[in-house]
Amino acid sequence: MMKIAVFASGTGSNFEAILESIQLKKIKNVEVVLLVSDNPNALAVTKAKNASIPVFSFQAKDYPDKLTYEQEVLEKLTNHQVDFIVLAGYMRLLGPVLLKAYDGKIINVHPSLLPAFKGKDAIGQALDYGVKVTGVTVHFVDEGMDTGPIIAQESVPVTMSMTRETLTIKIQEIEHRLLPEVIQSLANKETTI
Ligand code: GAR
Repeated sequence: MMKIAVFASGTGSNFEAILESIQLKKIKNVEVVLLVSDNPNALAVTKAKNASIPVFSFQAKDYPDKLTYEQEVLEKLTNHQVDFIVLAGYMRLLGPVLLKAYDGKIINVHPSLLPAFKGKDAIGQALDYGVKVTGVTVHFVDEGMDTGPIIAQESVPVTMSMTRETLTIKIQEIEHRLLPEVIQSLANKETTI
């Protein structure tokens, strides 16, 4: 069984999609043992509580620096015997404490075809630029913002009639399928090692 922690700052629809995939047995040998959030008021936190998933939430402003709060996060991850970290809308760069402890074991989902439109509001950036194709990327995490080796990508055509709302729905639909698929393939590799 691969024990994962999901990190989320906001709505947590990807977090929910992971839980649902486990419930429906679309992904096997994976257990979500912790939700980590840098926003105690995030909807993701409520969703975790409703699903009886342990939560660690914190506010960066309560700590002197990233090193200090990441040490506390690492302690929680160790307590819950977390093997793998999934960033699902976690809007903060990871520092050396977590990157070192979970080297090669952290993935992120991003709503664009990286390396295009890194950072916040990738969907808005794509619309503003006027691209005809955008998409979703799942990648390993390094110290950069939305950088690191790409694991999976899927494209979405941007049609004339698309609004921010309809494009967001289309992209999230793909995220909610692609991220669990990648988690499953990584879990398969873990269990065959
Ligand atoms: C998702 O679209 C995810 O790709 C994006 O935040 C959203 C979170 O939604 N992540 C990034 O932009 C990372 N740079 P959710 O909270 O409903 O899962």
